[in-house]
Amino acid sequence: MTKTIVVTGASDGIGLESASQLAGQGHRLVLVGRNPAKVTAAVKRLQAETNGAEVDSYACDFSRLEEVRRLGESLLASYPRIDVLVSNAGTVFDKRTLTADGYEATFAVNHLAGFLLTETLLPRLREGAPTRIVTTASVGHYRGTMNFDDLGFERGYQIMRAYNRSKLANVLYTRELARRLAGTGVTATTLHPGAVATNIWSGAPAFARPVLNLAKRIVMISPAEGGARLTYLATGAQVEGANGGYYEKDKIKEPAKLALDDAVGDRLVEVSRKMVGL
Ligand SMILES: NC(=O)c1ccc[n+]([C@@H]2O[C@H](COP(=O)([O-])OP(=O)(O)OC[C@H]3O[C@@H](n4cnc5c(N)ncnc54)[C@H](OP(=O)(O)O)[C@@H]3O)[C@@H](O)[C@H]2O)c1
Repeated sequence: MTKTIVVTGASDGIGLESASQLAGQGHRLVLVGRNPAKVTAAVKRLQAETNGAEVDSYACDFSRLEEVRRLGESLLASYPRIDVLVSNAGTVFDKRTLTADGYEATFAVNHLAGFLLTETLLPRLREGAPTRIVTTASVGHYRGTMNFDDLGFERGYQIMRAYNRSKLANVLYTRELARRLAGTGVTATTLHPGAVATNIWSGAPAFARPVLNLAKRIVMISPAEGGARLTYLATGAQVEGANGGYYEKDKIKEPAKLALDDAVGDRLVEVSRKMVGL
Protein backbone atom coordinates (compact mmCIF):
# COMPACT_ATOMS: atom_id res chain seq x y z
CA MET A 1 0.00 0.00 0.00
CA THR A 2 1.28 3.47 -0.87
CA LYS A 3 1.95 5.47 2.28
CA THR A 4 2.28 9.22 2.80
CA ILE A 5 5.59 9.75 4.59
CA VAL A 6 6.81 13.06 6.01
CA VAL A 7 10.61 13.28 6.45
CA THR A 8 12.28 16.23 8.19
CA GLY A 9 15.94 16.97 7.56
CA ALA A 10 15.24 15.55 4.11
CA SER A 11 17.47 17.94 2.15
CA ASP A 12 20.75 16.23 3.03
CA GLY A 13 22.46 13.30 4.76
CA ILE A 14 20.57 10.33 6.07
CA GLY A 15 17.16 12.00 5.78
CA LEU A 16 17.65 12.53 2.05
CA GLU A 17 18.92 8.99 1.51
CA SER A 18 16.07 7.47 3.48
CA ALA A 19 13.56 9.60 1.56
CA SER A 20 15.09 8.31 -1.67
CA GLN A 21 14.78 4.69 -0.47
CA LEU A 22 11.18 5.24 0.67
CA ALA A 23 10.24 6.84 -2.66
CA GLY A 24 11.87 3.83 -4.33
CA GLN A 25 9.48 1.61 -2.35
CA GLY A 26 6.63 3.45 -4.09
CA HIS A 27 5.53 5.76 -1.28
CA ARG A 28 4.44 9.38 -1.53
CA LEU A 29 7.09 11.58 0.10
CA VAL A 30 6.75 14.95 1.81
CA LEU A 31 10.22 16.42 2.20
CA VAL A 32 10.91 19.08 4.82
CA GLY A 33 14.15 21.07 4.73
CA ARG A 34 15.51 24.39 5.89
CA ASN A 35 16.94 25.61 2.59
CA PRO A 36 14.33 25.98 -0.22
CA ALA A 37 16.90 25.44 -3.00
CA LYS A 38 18.28 22.26 -1.39
CA VAL A 39 14.85 20.79 -0.75
CA THR A 40 13.77 21.55 -4.33
CA ALA A 41 16.91 19.79 -5.59
CA ALA A 42 16.01 16.82 -3.36
CA VAL A 43 12.54 16.63 -4.94
CA LYS A 44 14.09 16.64 -8.43
CA ARG A 45 16.53 13.90 -7.47
CA LEU A 46 13.79 11.62 -6.12
CA GLN A 47 11.56 12.23 -9.12
CA ALA A 48 14.41 11.47 -11.52
CA GLU A 49 15.36 8.29 -9.63
CA THR A 50 11.82 6.97 -9.53
CA ASN A 51 10.41 8.06 -12.84
CA GLY A 52 8.13 10.73 -11.38
CA ALA A 53 7.28 9.61 -7.83
CA GLU A 54 4.85 11.83 -5.98
CA VAL A 55 7.13 14.11 -3.94
CA ASP A 56 6.13 17.37 -2.24
CA SER A 57 8.36 19.73 -0.33
CA TYR A 58 8.19 22.34 2.41
CA ALA A 59 10.86 24.77 3.58
CA CYS A 60 10.93 25.40 7.31
CA ASP A 61 13.61 26.70 9.65
CA PHE A 62 13.39 24.57 12.79
CA SER A 63 15.07 27.29 14.84
CA ARG A 64 11.83 29.30 14.48
CA LEU A 65 8.89 27.77 16.30
CA GLU A 66 6.42 30.00 14.47
CA GLU A 67 7.57 28.43 11.17
CA VAL A 68 7.22 24.93 12.64
CA ARG A 69 3.70 25.76 13.81
CA ARG A 70 2.80 26.97 10.30
CA LEU A 71 4.38 23.87 8.75
CA GLY A 72 2.25 21.61 10.97
CA GLU A 73 -0.91 23.49 10.00
CA SER A 74 -0.04 23.30 6.28
CA LEU A 75 0.59 19.55 6.51
CA LEU A 76 -2.72 19.00 8.33
CA ALA A 77 -4.51 21.03 5.65
CA SER A 78 -2.83 19.23 2.75
CA TYR A 79 -2.74 15.57 3.80
CA PRO A 80 -5.88 13.75 4.96
CA ARG A 81 -3.61 10.78 5.76
CA ILE A 82 -0.10 10.75 7.20
CA ASP A 83 1.20 7.22 7.64
CA VAL A 84 4.74 7.88 8.85
CA LEU A 85 6.53 10.86 10.36
CA VAL A 86 10.32 10.60 10.24
CA SER A 87 11.49 13.29 12.65
CA ASN A 88 15.11 13.54 11.68
CA ALA A 89 16.29 17.17 11.30
CA GLY A 90 19.30 17.87 13.48
CA THR A 91 22.43 19.94 13.81
CA VAL A 92 25.19 21.13 16.13
CA PHE A 93 26.39 24.57 17.24
CA ASP A 94 30.05 25.13 18.10
CA LYS A 95 29.23 28.28 20.11
CA ARG A 96 26.16 28.71 22.34
CA THR A 97 23.49 30.26 20.14
CA LEU A 98 20.00 31.48 20.98
CA THR A 99 17.06 31.14 18.61
CA ALA A 100 14.59 33.92 17.80
CA ASP A 101 12.40 32.34 20.51
CA GLY A 102 15.21 32.76 23.03
CA TYR A 103 16.10 29.07 23.41
CA GLU A 104 19.48 27.34 23.16
CA ALA A 105 19.58 26.42 19.48
CA THR A 106 20.67 22.75 19.67
CA PHE A 107 17.83 21.89 22.03
CA ALA A 108 15.43 24.02 19.96
CA VAL A 109 16.27 22.52 16.55
CA ASN A 110 16.95 18.93 17.60
CA HIS A 111 14.17 18.51 20.16
CA LEU A 112 11.64 21.35 20.51
CA ALA A 113 10.88 21.73 16.78
CA GLY A 114 10.38 17.98 16.24
CA PHE A 115 8.34 17.84 19.44
CA LEU A 116 6.02 20.63 18.25
CA LEU A 117 5.64 19.11 14.78
CA THR A 118 4.93 15.64 16.19
CA GLU A 119 2.36 16.94 18.70
CA THR A 120 0.67 18.94 15.92
CA LEU A 121 0.46 15.94 13.58
CA LEU A 122 -0.55 13.43 16.28
CA PRO A 123 -4.33 13.71 15.72
CA ARG A 124 -3.80 12.90 12.00
CA LEU A 125 -1.50 9.99 12.84
CA ARG A 126 -4.05 8.67 15.35
CA GLU A 127 -6.89 8.87 12.79
CA GLY A 128 -4.89 6.88 10.26
CA ALA A 129 -3.53 4.18 12.61
CA PRO A 130 -1.64 1.92 12.16
CA THR A 131 0.94 4.68 11.69
CA ARG A 132 4.51 5.30 12.83
CA ILE A 133 6.68 8.04 14.30
CA VAL A 134 10.44 7.54 13.91
CA THR A 135 12.82 9.96 15.62
CA THR A 136 16.53 10.10 14.87
CA ALA A 137 18.42 10.22 18.17
CA SER A 138 22.06 9.23 18.64
CA VAL A 139 24.38 7.04 20.65
CA GLY A 140 25.39 10.41 22.15
CA HIS A 141 22.24 10.24 24.29
CA TYR A 142 24.09 7.83 26.63
CA ARG A 143 26.21 10.79 27.72
CA GLY A 144 23.29 13.20 27.87
CA THR A 145 22.25 15.02 31.04
CA MET A 146 18.95 16.73 31.80
CA ASN A 147 19.13 19.75 34.09
CA PHE A 148 15.70 21.38 34.10
CA ASP A 149 17.10 24.40 35.95
CA ASP A 150 19.52 25.14 33.11
CA LEU A 151 18.23 23.35 30.00
CA GLY A 152 19.97 25.83 27.69
CA PHE A 153 23.45 25.59 29.26
CA GLU A 154 23.72 29.17 30.47
CA ARG A 155 26.56 27.61 32.45
CA GLY A 156 29.07 25.22 30.91
CA TYR A 157 27.99 25.16 27.26
CA GLN A 158 29.96 22.74 25.15
CA ILE A 159 28.99 21.53 21.67
CA MET A 160 28.74 17.84 22.58
CA ARG A 161 27.05 18.43 25.94
CA ALA A 162 24.30 20.36 24.18
CA TYR A 163 24.04 17.79 21.37
CA ASN A 164 23.92 14.84 23.80
CA ARG A 165 21.18 16.52 25.87
CA SER A 166 19.09 17.13 22.75
CA LYS A 167 19.49 13.48 21.71
CA LEU A 168 18.58 12.24 25.22
CA ALA A 169 15.46 14.40 24.85
CA ASN A 170 14.69 12.55 21.57
CA VAL A 171 14.81 9.17 23.36
CA LEU A 172 12.87 10.37 26.42
CA TYR A 173 10.17 11.91 24.23
CA THR A 174 9.87 8.74 22.13
CA ARG A 175 9.40 6.65 25.26
CA GLU A 176 6.79 9.05 26.67
CA LEU A 177 4.97 9.03 23.30
CA ALA A 178 5.02 5.23 23.26
CA ARG A 179 3.47 5.10 26.73
CA ARG A 180 0.81 7.64 25.76
CA LEU A 181 0.05 5.92 22.44
CA ALA A 182 0.00 2.31 23.69
CA GLY A 183 -2.95 0.48 22.15
CA THR A 184 -3.78 3.23 19.62
CA GLY A 185 -1.93 1.65 16.68
CA VAL A 186 0.44 4.63 16.47
CA THR A 187 3.98 3.56 17.29
CA ALA A 188 7.00 5.63 18.25
CA THR A 189 10.56 4.38 17.85
CA THR A 190 13.97 6.02 17.91
CA LEU A 191 17.44 5.11 16.71
CA HIS A 192 21.12 5.76 16.39
CA PRO A 193 21.78 5.61 12.63
CA GLY A 194 25.49 4.80 13.08
CA ALA A 195 28.47 7.13 12.70
CA VAL A 196 27.56 8.45 9.26
CA ALA A 197 29.68 10.48 6.84
CA THR A 198 27.35 13.47 6.45
CA ASN A 199 27.77 17.23 6.68
CA ILE A 200 26.47 17.48 10.24
CA TRP A 201 29.95 17.94 11.67
CA SER A 202 30.71 20.93 9.45
CA GLY A 203 29.48 22.89 12.49
CA ALA A 204 32.19 21.32 14.69
CA PRO A 205 35.11 23.43 15.95
CA ALA A 206 37.88 23.99 13.37
CA PHE A 207 40.46 21.99 15.40
CA ALA A 208 38.26 18.86 15.29
CA ARG A 209 37.54 18.95 11.55
CA PRO A 210 40.71 17.23 10.22
CA VAL A 211 40.06 14.22 12.50
CA LEU A 212 36.37 14.18 11.55
CA ASN A 213 37.23 14.35 7.85
CA LEU A 214 39.61 11.42 8.25
CA ALA A 215 36.97 9.47 10.23
CA LYS A 216 34.45 10.21 7.47
CA ARG A 217 36.74 8.54 4.94
CA ILE A 218 37.84 5.52 6.91
CA VAL A 219 35.40 4.53 9.66
CA MET A 220 32.03 6.12 9.04
CA ILE A 221 29.26 4.42 7.11
CA SER A 222 27.69 6.06 4.05
CA PRO A 223 24.59 8.29 4.27
CA ALA A 224 22.70 5.59 2.31
CA GLU A 225 23.61 2.95 4.94
CA GLY A 226 22.60 5.32 7.76
CA GLY A 227 19.41 6.20 5.86
CA ALA A 228 18.54 2.51 5.54
CA ARG A 229 18.23 2.34 9.34
CA LEU A 230 15.55 5.05 9.25
CA THR A 231 13.86 3.31 6.35
CA TYR A 232 13.79 0.05 8.33
CA LEU A 233 11.88 1.66 11.20
CA ALA A 234 9.68 3.74 8.87
CA THR A 235 8.28 0.89 6.76
CA GLY A 236 10.01 -2.38 7.72
CA ALA A 237 7.53 -5.25 8.13
CA GLN A 238 9.76 -6.70 10.87
CA VAL A 239 9.00 -3.74 13.15
CA GLU A 240 5.26 -3.48 12.43
CA GLY A 241 3.59 -2.67 15.76
CA ALA A 242 6.91 -2.26 17.60
CA ASN A 243 6.49 0.59 20.06
CA GLY A 244 8.88 2.56 22.25
CA GLY A 245 12.20 0.96 21.31
CA TYR A 246 15.64 2.51 20.85
CA TYR A 247 17.47 0.83 17.93
CA GLU A 248 21.06 0.44 16.81
CA LYS A 249 21.93 -1.52 13.63
CA ASP A 250 18.23 -2.49 13.28
CA LYS A 251 18.22 -4.14 16.70
CA ILE A 252 16.46 -2.98 19.82
CA LYS A 253 18.86 -1.92 22.55
CA GLU A 254 18.51 -0.70 26.11
CA PRO A 255 18.94 3.08 26.11
CA ALA A 256 20.64 5.13 28.84
CA LYS A 257 19.34 4.70 32.42
CA LEU A 258 18.20 8.32 32.41
CA ALA A 259 16.19 7.67 29.23
CA LEU A 260 14.28 4.94 31.13
CA ASP A 261 13.23 7.33 33.89
CA ASP A 262 9.52 7.96 33.27
CA ALA A 263 9.43 10.87 35.72
CA VAL A 264 12.17 12.65 33.74
CA GLY A 265 10.30 11.88 30.48
CA ASP A 266 7.04 13.26 31.85
CA ARG A 267 8.76 16.39 33.12
CA LEU A 268 10.53 16.90 29.78
CA VAL A 269 7.22 16.74 27.96
CA GLU A 270 5.56 19.12 30.39
CA VAL A 271 8.44 21.62 30.09
CA SER A 272 8.58 21.22 26.28
CA ARG A 273 4.84 21.89 25.98
CA LYS A 274 5.29 25.17 27.85
CA MET A 275 8.35 26.12 25.80
CA VAL A 276 6.56 25.63 22.46
CA GLY A 277 3.32 27.22 23.69
CA LEU A 278 1.05 24.16 23.70
N1 LIG B 1 25.83 11.73 10.96
C1 LIG B 1 25.93 11.02 12.08
O1 LIG B 1 26.97 10.39 12.36
C2 LIG B 1 24.79 10.96 13.03
C3 LIG B 1 24.90 10.13 14.16
C4 LIG B 1 23.84 10.07 15.06
C5 LIG B 1 22.69 10.80 14.83
N2 LIG B 1 22.62 11.61 13.73
C6 LIG B 1 21.38 12.39 13.56
O2 LIG B 1 20.91 12.20 12.24
C7 LIG B 1 20.06 13.30 11.89
C8 LIG B 1 20.40 13.77 10.47
O3 LIG B 1 21.73 14.23 10.46
P1 LIG B 1 22.74 14.01 9.25
O4 LIG B 1 23.93 13.32 9.80
O5 LIG B 1 22.03 13.45 8.08
O6 LIG B 1 23.19 15.53 8.99
P2 LIG B 1 23.03 16.50 7.73
O7 LIG B 1 23.54 15.85 6.51
O8 LIG B 1 23.66 17.79 8.17
O9 LIG B 1 21.45 16.67 7.59
C9 LIG B 1 20.73 17.33 8.58
C10 LIG B 1 19.38 17.71 8.04
O10 LIG B 1 18.71 18.52 9.03
C11 LIG B 1 18.39 19.79 8.45
N3 LIG B 1 18.48 20.91 9.40
C12 LIG B 1 19.54 21.33 10.10
N4 LIG B 1 19.24 22.46 10.77
C13 LIG B 1 17.96 22.75 10.47
C14 LIG B 1 17.07 23.81 10.81
N5 LIG B 1 17.44 24.84 11.60
N6 LIG B 1 15.81 23.79 10.31
C15 LIG B 1 15.40 22.79 9.49
N7 LIG B 1 16.20 21.78 9.12
C16 LIG B 1 17.46 21.76 9.60
C17 LIG B 1 19.45 19.98 7.38
O11 LIG B 1 19.06 21.00 6.48
P3 LIG B 1 20.18 21.68 5.48
O12 LIG B 1 20.23 20.76 4.32
O13 LIG B 1 19.61 23.02 5.19
O14 LIG B 1 21.46 21.74 6.25
C18 LIG B 1 19.50 18.59 6.79
O15 LIG B 1 18.38 18.35 5.95
C19 LIG B 1 20.28 14.37 12.96
O16 LIG B 1 19.19 14.35 13.85
C20 LIG B 1 21.54 13.89 13.67
O17 LIG B 1 21.59 14.30 15.01
C21 LIG B 1 23.64 11.71 12.83
